[in-house]
Amino acid sequence: MSRKYLIAGNWKMNKTATEAVDLIEEVKSLVGNQSSVQVCVCPSFTSLAKASELVEESQLLLGAQDMNAESSGAFTGEISAEMLRDLYVSFVILGHSERRQFFGETNHSVNKKILAAVENNLKPIYCIGETLEERETEKTLDVVGSQVREGLESFPSQSIENLVLAYEPVWAIGTGKTATDEMAQEVHAYIRKVLTDIFGESSASKIRILYGGSMKPENAAGLLAQEDVDGGLIGGASLTARAFSGIVEAALNA
Ligand code: 13P
Repeated sequence: MSRKYLIAGNWKMNKTATEAVDLIEEVKSLVGNQSSVQVCVCPSFTSLAKASELVEESQLLLGAQDMNAESSGAFTGEISAEMLRDLYVSFVILGHSERRQFFGETNHSVNKKILAAVENNLKPIYCIGETLEERETEKTLDVVGSQVREGLESFPSQSIENLVLAYEPVWAIGTGKTATDEMAQEVHAYIRKVLTDIFGESSASKIRILYGGSMKPENAAGLLAQEDVDGGLIGGASLTARAFSGIVEAALNA
């Protein structure tokens, strides 16, 4: 299967626009000239304009961390897909567990954003994953299955190659606890099975499924070696160029 690895850095609410310039320059000099692995940085909205100028003459791609499902209008404080496209943003992270936990997002509300993103030629990185309680009560596959089905309702099959999923077990985010390689592969394989049920085997085999949750250079190789792990969505380790590029190197060597 020829799915190209994607390593995406979710900077979350970190780095001013000034700091973002330095980090992007460093990442660019370390891994910005190769195209074997796709590398994407997702800074805050306030850094996107500057970032889009910096990545222009490199292979680095730009992503946003959220967007509104509406195209324009009276939604104070919100950002539309068109505004992101205008800044040459390629990817948009949607449905991150922090947005579900702190901002009340649901599979249903995230579904609207996913559909609006692909309509505007943005590539959604749709985040799913179970809480610790759900894992301990053996609900992981049920929860993840519903997230995939409900979040991707009415997803247009002609846009399938623009769809990326990220499996991020909530208990592994920012905790230093990583899913074992086998745990990740088990859930990724299940996600691909659900995608096969929805879209058919040929389409499902094209969709990249990233792993996220305390991924770092030390554990990246093992996770990326799994058959259904097609890259990483990196939080903490994307905030230093050395750690982030270490994960990109692991993907280049995988
Ligand atoms: P950490 O890599 O800091 O655990 O965060 C993962 C994440 O939430 C990426 O979206």
